[in-house]
Amino acid sequence: MKGGNIYSFRGRHVSVALVAVVLFSTLLWTWERNPFSITLRSAQEWYHLPSEFAAVVPIDSVGTTKPEKGVEKSLTPSTENETKLQLGVEGASAVDSTLPESPDILYSQDLKSSSRNEVCDYAKGKWVAESRRPLYSGFSCKQWLSSMWSCRMTQRPDFSFEGYRWQPKNCDMQEFDRSKFLTKMKDKTIAFIGDSLGRQQFQSLMCMATGGEESPEVENVGWEYGLVKHRGAIRPDGWAYRFPKTNTTILYYWSASLCDLVPLNIKDKQTNVAMHLDRPPAFMRQFLHRFDVLVLNTGHHWNRGKLNANRWVMHVDGKQNEDKKLEEIANAKNLTIYSVSKWLDLQLVSHPRLKAFFRTLSPRHFFNGDWNTGGSCDNTIPLSNGSEVSQEGSSDPVIEGALKGTKIKILDITPLSQLRDEAHMSRYTIRGTLNSSDCLHWCLPGIPDTWNELLVAQL
Ligand SMILES: *[C@@H]1O[C@H](CO)[C@@H](O)[C@H](O)[C@H]1NC(C)=O
Ligand SMILES: *[C@@H]1O[C@H](CO)[C@@H](O)[C@H](O)[C@H]1NC(C)=O
Ligand SMILES: *[C@@H]1O[C@H](CO)[C@@H](O)[C@H](O)[C@H]1NC(C)=O
Ligand SMILES: *[C@@H]1O[C@H](CO)[C@@H](O)[C@H](O)[C@H]1NC(C)=O
Ligand SMILES: *[C@@H]1O[C@H](CO)[C@@H](O)[C@H](O)[C@H]1NC(C)=O
Repeated sequence: MKGGNIYSFRGRHVSVALVAVVLFSTLLWTWERNPFSITLRSAQEWYHLPSEFAAVVPIDSVGTTKPEKGVEKSLTPSTENETKLQLGVEGASAVDSTLPESPDILYSQDLKSSSRNEVCDYAKGKWVAESRRPLYSGFSCKQWLSSMWSCRMTQRPDFSFEGYRWQPKNCDMQEFDRSKFLTKMKDKTIAFIGDSLGRQQFQSLMCMATGGEESPEVENVGWEYGLVKHRGAIRPDGWAYRFPKTNTTILYYWSASLCDLVPLNIKDKQTNVAMHLDRPPAFMRQFLHRFDVLVLNTGHHWNRGKLNANRWVMHVDGKQNEDKKLEEIANAKNLTIYSVSKWLDLQLVSHPRLKAFFRTLSPRHFFNGDWNTGGSCDNTIPLSNGSEVSQEGSSDPVIEGALKGTKIKILDITPLSQLRDEAHMSRYTIRGTLNSSDCLHWCLPGIPDTWNELLVAQL
């Protein structure tokens, strides 16, 4: 149990500490991919930036705003082997769909009474049972799906959460068809930039686009974007894959805060990192011109614990922030979301082919406690709190406000995901069942597939 000394537990409950230590050790292997990550196990070997891993240490209590913690953990050792992602030479085609032809007619039945001319609001609608779900198998999509998020690979016994689709109100949303999707995305690049929930959406889209089948023809083109594993890092800071038949590229880049992060002293492993609230990540500035679709998200890293643990020091206008008000997490987050949106909107003028989306917060469902205090999400009955979203306006005033007057679209998935408390990882891992639960990340296949269906419908 190296690293146990890092805990500054004030509580005396040995059991809590035990659970945390066990959790912490397993987290080292599994948490969101971050090239800058340290592991406690290898605190000497790590790359050059501090880790969000350390954010599990429950030091959020200093947070000035309601912390959105809990975040980004997964509870089982990953069996993921990066080399598996390097592709073989078999000749299966990703485009040859083996799914049944999409019976669009089915989807029209709901719509007989509603006018198709009404503007579609994808965020409103209802979940309906659907036999043709999930869109891929959690057993077979090993190539793209982290095993830690593949609930079919865990001890979980119930899978009823897989059998639903989202029916937006007043919309004839065509069913996702991977062949049509790839054809539509011919020569195009879809980029996800955000936290581990963004990575879930990326993995989901990879599985959807391949039907979850072995796809050795899909090329790993991470190197084109500098997405390679650096020495000492446990993983690259993102991934990029290309479907050769249509020359479609899908990529993900880890940027949990959407801030530009710059180590203050590159030679010092313990260095603080300037977190430029008003400057988008360098990766985004560098590669924006290559994207046709960009999906941003942020949210769960905006808490004091994550900032401290990562040694992120707020900077504004190139200087360390001294504004006490801005030091408050909610204000800093607000500034970043407004800044990145404003920057991106300006960029859209010179990047006319780019379609930009900002995804709203993915809801957590910890009941009877938080992620580190025994909170759980044990309900297994889908939609026990209702299946319909009818609220007016978006669920996320900050993102909605920041996007107002811009050409960036909101991908408002919060209310529809809020109804799906049973679809998180919960307490299941490959090896067994834990006392603690991951009620932040989603099972895949699962809810992020729906986010992608809404995204694809709007392309
Ligand atoms: C990953 O897979 C490769 C090829 O199958 C193997 O050589 C390597 O030892 C594996 N690494 C780990 C960490 O399992
Ligand atoms: C593939 O798509 C890219 C745009 O993403 C384009 O620049 C390139 O020319 C395409 N390659 C081929 C072989 O069509
Ligand atoms: C967020 O920032 C914008 C732009 O500076 C400001 O207009 C808005 O009032 C802020 N919202 C909150 C909740 O602080
Ligand atoms: C269902 O809704 C009630 C009332 O809004 C809320 O208190 C409860 O936590 C919800 N349950 C779930 C499982 O979301
Ligand atoms: C897990 O929960 C069970 C039942 O509540 C309890 O008996 C057990 O001690 C817990 N295990 C740990 C490691 O806390």
